[in-house]
Amino acid sequence: MSIPTVKTSRLVLRPFTVEDAIPLHQILSTPGVLQYYPRSDPPDLGRVKRLIQAQLDHWDEHGYGWWAVETESENTFIGWSGLQYLPETDEIEIGYLFSKPYWGKGLATESAKEGIEFGFNQLEIEVIVGIVHPENIASQRVLRKIGLEFQEKAKYFGMECFKYQARTPNQKIA
Ligand SMILES: CC(C)(COP(=O)(O)OP(=O)(O)OC[C@H]1O[C@@H](n2cnc3c(N)ncnc32)[C@H](O)[C@@H]1OP(=O)(O)O)[C@@H](O)C(=O)NCCC(=O)NCCS
Repeated sequence: MSIPTVKTSRLVLRPFTVEDAIPLHQILSTPGVLQYYPRSDPPDLGRVKRLIQAQLDHWDEHGYGWWAVETESENTFIGWSGLQYLPETDEIEIGYLFSKPYWGKGLATESAKEGIEFGFNQLEIEVIVGIVHPENIASQRVLRKIGLEFQEKAKYFGMECFKYQARTPNQKIA
């Protein structure tokens, strides 16, 4: 499918390309970035390339996926943001990961709002979840700012997590 490019006031959300592999590898190798992921050891470059290809395939299969995120001002690649299908629970998750120097500027929130809007308005998804490590406070703050609410503790990816959720505002009650 043709993956849409979306602009926000400070960001460009665009399809991943193979050129993103090296900067993404650098971001994922920075201590702390993968701290709250089930596999927190940095992936090698080959695995990063496979991750990028898997995202492009995911867009093809589902019509949504992670965008590569770059700054609008300098076109610097800074991470990913978007929706992902979770086959184990048949849910759709909003996710994001950014390069450390870009944390704390509201950029995850700015990008994730687009993912939520794309899911609810364009794809007419009914429910979007956010799955987060209980100690990942920044991510939980982002989830709340984009309208998700805490649901329950639950096991995902073999890890105890907090599950957040939002339901489409467009949903009609039968
Ligand atoms: C989680 C992450 C995406 C947040 O990105 P960000 O661009 O800094 O997020 P934002 O600036 O939009 O919002 C972060 C919020 O958390 C708050 N915050 C950050 N660290 C915090 C902490 N330790 N305790 C409490 N609040 C914290 C910020 O103040 C901000 O809230 P505010 O707008 O009310 O002030 C970023 O830290 C990251 O990439 N982490 C590594 C990958 C990751 O964990 N992804 C999520 C997996 S579920």
